[in-house]
Order: sequence, then C-alpha cells, then structure tokens
Amino acid sequence: MILTKYGGVIRRYREFLPEIDDKHIVTLLEGNTPLIKSININKIINRDIEIYFKYEGLNPTGSFKDRGMTMAVSKAVSSGSKAVICASTGNTSASASAYAARAGIKSFVLIPEGKISSGKLSQALAHGATVMQIRGNFDDALVITREIAKDYEVTLVNSVNPYRLEGQKTASFEIIDELGAPPTHHILPVGNAGNITAYWEGYKEYFDAKKIDRLPKMLGFQAEGSAPIVLNHIVKEPHTVATAIRIGNPASWQKAVSARDESDGLIDSVSDEDILKAYSMLASMEGVFCEPASAITLAGLIKLNKRGFFKKGDVCVLTLTGHGLKDPGNAIKVSKEPVVVPCDKHSVLTVMGLA
Ligand code: F0G
Repeated sequence: MILTKYGGVIRRYREFLPEIDDKHIVTLLEGNTPLIKSININKIINRDIEIYFKYEGLNPTGSFKDRGMTMAVSKAVSSGSKAVICASTGNTSASASAYAARAGIKSFVLIPEGKISSGKLSQALAHGATVMQIRGNFDDALVITREIAKDYEVTLVNSVNPYRLEGQKTASFEIIDELGAPPTHHILPVGNAGNITAYWEGYKEYFDAKKIDRLPKMLGFQAEGSAPIVLNHIVKEPHTVATAIRIGNPASWQKAVSARDESDGLIDSVSDEDILKAYSMLASMEGVFCEPASAITLAGLIKLNKRGFFKKGDVCVLTLTGHGLKDPGNAIKVSKEPVVVPCDKHSVLTVMGLA
C-alpha cells in the first residue's frame, strides 16, 4: 500500500492559508497531533460529557508554536529576511530558533531572566539562537522586540505577526476533521492570547466554508496571579507556577475578548494549586505529560463542572499546549519522591510490597 506523505500544516491546509511558494516552505512536519479521548479522568469528573485532549506537546519542538512558526518563518524567508526575533516565556523561542535553524537564518530571543523552564532554554541554545535574558518580564521583552523589528531588518515572529495565528488555526481544522464535527466547548490556556484567537478564526473559517454548521464556545483560562483579561486591567508583576503564561498585558487581548464574546464563551482564572493538581492528574491518571500551563485547561474544566456548567452530551476539547518534558522540575516537585533502596532483591521486593 502506498501511503500519502504528510507534509506539515501548510501543505495540508493550503487552501485556508496565505499563499506561499512550495520552495519557500520551512517545515519540520508540525501538526497532525493526536486527539486523545480521556478515559480515567472523564469517568471521575462527569460521565455525561466527553473530554478530549489535543496533545500539542507532540509537535517537533514540543509545543503548539510550531504550527504558527512554520507559516511565519516561511513567509519571512520568502520575503528575503535573514533573521527572526521574538520575546518569549520559552516555547516561542524554542520554536523560532528551530525553524530559523532549518531555514538557515539567524534567531534572536529575549526571555525573562530565571523565569523560563530549563528544557525550553536548552532548546533555544541548542538551535543556535542568540539568547538574551532580560531583567524584566515577558511584556517588557515584547515591547523591546517590537521596537527593534520596526526599525531593523529582522522579522518579528511573536503572535503579533499575523502569519503565526494563520498557522495556529490549523489545530481547529484537525479537530473537526477528526471528530467530524466541532466540539461544544473548546478550552485553552490564555497567555499572550494569540492561540485562543487563532482557534476561533479556524472554527469560523470552517463554518464559512460550510464544513460545520455550528461553532463551539471558547473557554479560556488564566492563572490567578496573571489574569489581566479576567481582572480587566494590566497586571504589572504577573506571577504563576505556569511560567509559559506569566503575562500581564497580552498582545491579542481584544481579539481574545472577541473570541469569548462572539462564541458566547468565557475567560476565567484558576489558582496555581489547582493547576498543579490537574497537571498531576493528567500525567498519573491518563498517561499524558504536559506542562503546567497546559494543565490549566483541565483545572478550568473541573472548576466549571463543579458549578454544573456542562450539559449531558457536551464534547469538550482541551488543548494541551506543551510537553511535560519541557519543565521536569515541576513534575519532580509535585510527585512522589523516588525511593533509595539497598542493592538487593529482598529490599526491592519489600518496597514493592511483595516481600
Ligand atoms: N501554553 C503554553 C505552553 C505556552 O507556551 C503559551 C504561550 C500559552 C499556553 C499561551 O498561549 O500566548 O497564545 O495565549 N507561550 C508564549 C511563549 C508566550 O513565549 O512561548 P497564548
């Protein structure tokens, strides 16, 4: 049997994306990620609804950013750009530097000093980016990168670059193509607010193309200490264990609010404690290892479910935005400690409860 070769999100969804010459496509075969049906968590939370995880941690650099980066870097290359720049809480920098390496161009990344997980930092370094740790937060870094990109020949690849959102919307297409229908609810973490905007665009485009006849409600979640949209004001010093979404002034704020309102959805917040509980549940009960920012989706679903938000038959898709291996420190902190055992069979059997 001859299998059709997978060519990444641009080739798969070309008719819905900005035009690009085949020779300019920069891809690491991102997308095509699994939609995993929850079994064990679904059972204990609510048997009347269906829960699916869109596991974006299985993208080439371990996060959803690759869907947008293939589009943004391809466009940068096609316009002759020789360098990209971004501000990042870690994942954007990992993705930008990988795609820049693939394209043979330079990458510059600005990250908040000491506030990104080691996995993400190692990626940007390994891919050869010039990594600048600033004594400020993500929002400060984004201001600087935007100014530089305005005045110098270096392409900004944060989600304010419209091609990023174009690529990211392909996740909605994949979900519909797989389920055969849109979910009733789509739950996402909200940081810089690009992804919830992109997903909503994707759903609307499939609706306009008559591939679906209804739209899901978009449910976004921010961490309590970094919840500008929920509070309706800028948070000057955002804090949360979910460093990926430690953002106090999201660039796509208004677009996320529109996605919320147009879809009759909501944007709410949850505590760090609940984020970490959900993070442990996903890994230990479902075998799905994601980073804390991703687990906020499950924490949010649990919060809403407790107040009777869902109806029988509802289908919820939760985007798990990044892989757990990006941030192993948190996993070690919240899990059972490894046991030190003398080097003999009897001691091992004792710990196993079989002696
Ligand atoms: N989840 C993860 C794992 C992320 O890395 C991010 C954003 C989000 C969720 C939020 O998505 O910004 O589109 O609302 N990370 C950016 C970065 C800010 O620099 O890697 P958003």
